[in-house]
Amino acid sequence: MNVDIQKDLKPAKVDHLFVVVAEKDKDVALPQAISKSVRKTIENAGFDGRADESITILADEPRKITLMGIGKKDAINLRGIRAALYSIGKIAKKQRDARIAVLLPYNAGNLDANAMTRLVADYLAQTDYKYDEYITVKKNGDMRSIDATILATASLQPKRLREIRQEARTVSQAVRTVRDLGNAPPNVITPTRLAERAEAVAKESGIKCTIYGRREIERMKMGGLLAVNRGSAEEPRFIVMEYAPRRAKTHVALVGKGITFDSGGISIKPAEKMEEMKFDMCGAAAVIGVMQAAAALELPIRITGAIPSTENLPGGRAYKPGDIITMMNGKTVEIVNTDAEGRMILGDALHYASELKPDHLIDYATLTGACVVALGSEAAGLFSNDDELARKLIDCGERVGERLWRLPEWDDYKDLIRSEWADMKNSGGRWGGAISAALFLKEYVNCPSWAHLDIAGTAYMEHETAREARGATGAGVRVTVEFLESLSR
Ligand code: BES
Ligand code: MN
Ligand code: ZN
Repeated sequence: MNVDIQKDLKPAKVDHLFVVVAEKDKDVALPQAISKSVRKTIENAGFDGRADESITILADEPRKITLMGIGKKDAINLRGIRAALYSIGKIAKKQRDARIAVLLPYNAGNLDANAMTRLVADYLAQTDYKYDEYITVKKNGDMRSIDATILATASLQPKRLREIRQEARTVSQAVRTVRDLGNAPPNVITPTRLAERAEAVAKESGIKCTIYGRREIERMKMGGLLAVNRGSAEEPRFIVMEYAPRRAKTHVALVGKGITFDSGGISIKPAEKMEEMKFDMCGAAAVIGVMQAAAALELPIRITGAIPSTENLPGGRAYKPGDIITMMNGKTVEIVNTDAEGRMILGDALHYASELKPDHLIDYATLTGACVVALGSEAAGLFSNDDELARKLIDCGERVGERLWRLPEWDDYKDLIRSEWADMKNSGGRWGGAISAALFLKEYVNCPSWAHLDIAGTAYMEHETAREARGATGAGVRVTVEFLESLSR
């Protein structure tokens, strides 16, 4: 959806106006042109404004006005707002509206009007997202793009309005990049192709991108990445993206898990839903998306993105349980489960990134099923050795509707990955699985301000939800952009 932000409603230029209304809110602030008919509807048509309740009024200009309920006024939150916007997007698509306007006269939480408008514009732009690259017979409605106008509720300067619109487009574009990469099939997004996409994004964004192939990865002694890659016919890649504006004072390193398909390897996964393991590169995609957004927003921060990428497949040459692998930092790992492959490739990448001595180091990974068991798909697991960083990330997530929930990385759990034969083993088993995975990663981190985001439950939706389509979500992008912006303020 193409989203614009305007100060006033231009009824003649809109086919369908959507007004978000809270429960029984007769006093809602409305533009003069529609105020009377809308208030009448709220009073007489039995429209209460409950969440996801909607009613459409036929009028002259605009021809249609839909009131979209959002529930109790004092309970309005970003979750509800996203759901209302998603419903609006679906209605507009179904009714083949070409030009819509959206009025959302409420703020969520402690967001100011600027932040709120930007977020709504970004969310709205995503509502008609559909990955249809490989649908050869497209439906009529899927061909057309909807032009949407958000009616700004606060009186913003035209210049500020244009900035906000541009920022929203930038974030939305980054989220789209992540969703497209995540949703693409694993025979298309191989490590080689993932690297090519990263390179393309880097080129467009005017940032540096270095791609290391097998030879160079061998020279760097990335034993974890090489071990996981052994079962694959596709070459591994190690991708480094660098955005280094001149005035940067802070350096942030981002690491993303780039398993383009995770079969489990020799410790093979059950067949059911194995196709979902094409999403095992969503951490990598998030890093690419953040780099894209950061460059476009010209954030005054140096950012390095590091992505280890390979498939995890079984085969005669595949790594196997019992193997002992020497990682890039020299530590040895006894393999007890080849399906715990993410930490093997991330261990090397985290060591690599630590060597750069960044001020903050953040990694993104669809790392454990255990995290999904613990938190479901509403929050990502957050682990950190820095309380302040953890607090900031949670806070930034709250502001953009991306929930993070902190889990412990206490050494108390370290026994789980103790090995008799090597420095550690690569799996701590089922109990506390998200924690032992984080503790494994911590062994490779040499940075006092590190955070690990386990996005296994949030990176993709198994089914359509009230807020978004099935498939990749772009998890990690908005919270990280918000965090990077907060560092630059
Ligand atoms: N990619 C998976 C984790 C995953 C599971 C992501 C479900 C998304 C949805 C990861 O590589 C994995 O297989 N983890 C194992 C670790 C175990 C063997 C210690 C898991 O969670 O079962
Ligand atoms: Mn796995
Ligand atoms: Zn995996």
